[in-house]
Amino acid sequence: MKGLILSGGKGTRLYPLTYTSAKQLIPIANKPVLVRVIEAIRDAGITDIGIVVGDTATDIERAIGDGSKWDVQVTYIPQDAPLGLAHAVKISQEFLGDDRFVMFLGDNVIQGGISPLIAQFADSDYNSQIVLTNVDQPEQYGVAQLGSDGRIVRLIEKPKDPPSNLALVGIYMFDANIFKAVHAITPSWRGELEITDAIQWLVEHDYNVHPYIHQGWWIDTGRPGDMLEANSLALEELTPKNDGYIDRDSEVDSRVTVEKGAEIINSVVRGPAIIGRDTRLVNAYVGPFTSIYHHCLIENAEISRSIVLENSQIRNVNRRIEDSLIGRHVVVHRSPIRPRAYKLTLGDNSRIGLLNE
Ligand code: G1P
Repeated sequence: MKGLILSGGKGTRLYPLTYTSAKQLIPIANKPVLVRVIEAIRDAGITDIGIVVGDTATDIERAIGDGSKWDVQVTYIPQDAPLGLAHAVKISQEFLGDDRFVMFLGDNVIQGGISPLIAQFADSDYNSQIVLTNVDQPEQYGVAQLGSDGRIVRLIEKPKDPPSNLALVGIYMFDANIFKAVHAITPSWRGELEITDAIQWLVEHDYNVHPYIHQGWWIDTGRPGDMLEANSLALEELTPKNDGYIDRDSEVDSRVTVEKGAEIINSVVRGPAIIGRDTRLVNAYVGPFTSIYHHCLIENAEISRSIVLENSQIRNVNRRIEDSLIGRHVVVHRSPIRPRAYKLTLGDNSRIGLLNE
């Protein structure tokens, strides 16, 4: 079996972070979403992986390389324009050949334990297996209607009037019959070749498409709020360990992971949280559901339920920072220079939530 990861897209809803980096490389509990996807596929025993890349190809290739760091072999498949998930399958035909494969959207984060399901598909006689889960706003996804026997009746992409709450999770398993489907369908109203339409084509032509209902959590990380939510859930799954240094004046609870080279000085950390490699906390408070990536400094400041990316500094801030997504090489500090005012250097599409005082 092979793996196919879709990692194109501009990530416009995550501007300004995605001006400078691919959305799939934003870390959740200090591990990029794309790396989580690669590991899930590898853990299912699949090592031959194609990654479909778009505008952010260079960035993704720089981070993932040939895949050997994760014991997989990666082939990059360029997609000239974001013409849909079924289009991505079409352009990957040469790489996939006649093999059965799993296709994973590179921005989906799912609760562990999906790997056995992928491995099972390799030996099954299903032509396709799709993963469904109950969601609150099905109109934002591909939606499945199941019959009383549990079989798929119909699949519709972003229906105005959803026939159920069962959304298609971004993990799909196929055999080579999917190529007939992606060549047969036509673009949707949004101008894309929809994978949902291709699977509907399989259903209509009596291929065996098996629905698997996923019971755990699943997040399609499109917006900053989704990132924070996925981060919280992934932190809860971490097995804590301390590979760094915690001084005697600090208080670090048992649900905290401290990575190599990190230093915690006279600080309080409440888990679940992760403190990245070579990051320093000095006179700081880091509250639950916070991930601080590598080479950061948090000094005389408090932060909770946030993600801070690498090489950033938060110093001498007298209000707690919460629900925040902070990019790379960012400095947030109290300015000693007059006038006593907010002094901001912000990228396009930055968002600042000021207090109503
Ligand atoms: C895509 C699929 C949709 C699926 C979703 C899962 O949506 O078209 O069927 O439910 O991924 O993340 P898109 O992200 O293209 O809006």
